[in-house]
Amino acid sequence: MPIVPVTPQTLNRAAELLRTGGVVAFPTETVYGLGASAFDARAVARIFEIKRRPAFDPLIVHVLDDAMLQRVAARVDERARALMARFWPGPLTLVLPKTPSVPEIVTAGLQTVAVRMPAHAVARALLERIGLPLAAPSANPFGSLSPTRAEHVYRALGESVDLVLDGGRTEHGLESTIVALEPRPTLLRPGAVPLEEIEEATGPLQRSTDAATPLAPGQLPTHYAPHTPLRTVAFEAVPQAQRAGCGAIGFRAAPGGYARAVALSPAGDLREAAAGLFEALHELDALGLERIDAEPFPEQGLGLAIADRLRRAAAPG
Ligand code: TXA
Ligand code: MG
Repeated sequence: MPIVPVTPQTLNRAAELLRTGGVVAFPTETVYGLGASAFDARAVARIFEIKRRPAFDPLIVHVLDDAMLQRVAARVDERARALMARFWPGPLTLVLPKTPSVPEIVTAGLQTVAVRMPAHAVARALLERIGLPLAAPSANPFGSLSPTRAEHVYRALGESVDLVLDGGRTEHGLESTIVALEPRPTLLRPGAVPLEEIEEATGPLQRSTDAATPLAPGQLPTHYAPHTPLRTVAFEAVPQAQRAGCGAIGFRAAPGGYARAVALSPAGDLREAAAGLFEALHELDALGLERIDAEPFPEQGLGLAIADRLRRAAAPG
């Protein structure tokens, strides 16, 4: 059983596995990551295999400090520095030119690398112990719901992972926000840092949905999807007769008449809603319901990332 609580001993064991080509799932402040040494192309290949992830979808590299950043990023300009000063360690990923040390499999052949400095104590303890950057995508099968608990990882990936470090439920519950700086500052994926906060530092960001801006590879329309069909819909528009046997995810309130309905934040707090989103999706998806109805979210602050995940979860596969 590779799922273990975090102790100095299990951290040492995880570090030893990572040093010798192993693949270890660990908690970060966003979601659980499936990590391997970023400099070990064979270990990274195992991540792709375990996740059944297409090779065109590059991974995020996690660094402990500036020294580790220098080993993976060839250039860090002033705009990147300003964002790092404000948001690192934390859930912001920056796309930067890569050094030759980063194997092509990590970046899917791109000359850029996506880097973030995690804030989570367990992620940091691992990075410190191995002294190497860790390539780590979210620890879920490609296209499915991201894991916010160790059990989600274990249920989806099981014995294929060498070790799962159980650090409890993740704080943000949504992946990092991804920003590319070249050719111009662009939002590649909305995430746990609200867009508005980043724009305070950068000015207006291009959106990767705009024509003629670089796309984040791997950001396919269907992603983060439960097995149960999901749609976003205003609950007022759903007749009672269409609720039986179905599940619902509401923002402030759980609507009546559904087999199971969840309110993500009765207080109307988007942080709380974001933190519970994947968890609610995992829970409802396990019930074998006919359909999941999710309430539309205001596309402001963290609502932007929540709405993005729901849109992708709802896209026909
Ligand atoms: O919060 C997170 O970011 C989590 C935790 C584990 O850190 N990781 C995560 O990784 O969400 P993943 O693999 O699910 O998302 C990585 C995405 C890719 O799908 C791609 O869209 C983008 O990051 N990406 C990676 N490298 C890139 C690059 N060089 N250029 C543009 N986008 C890149
Ligand atoms: Mg992912």
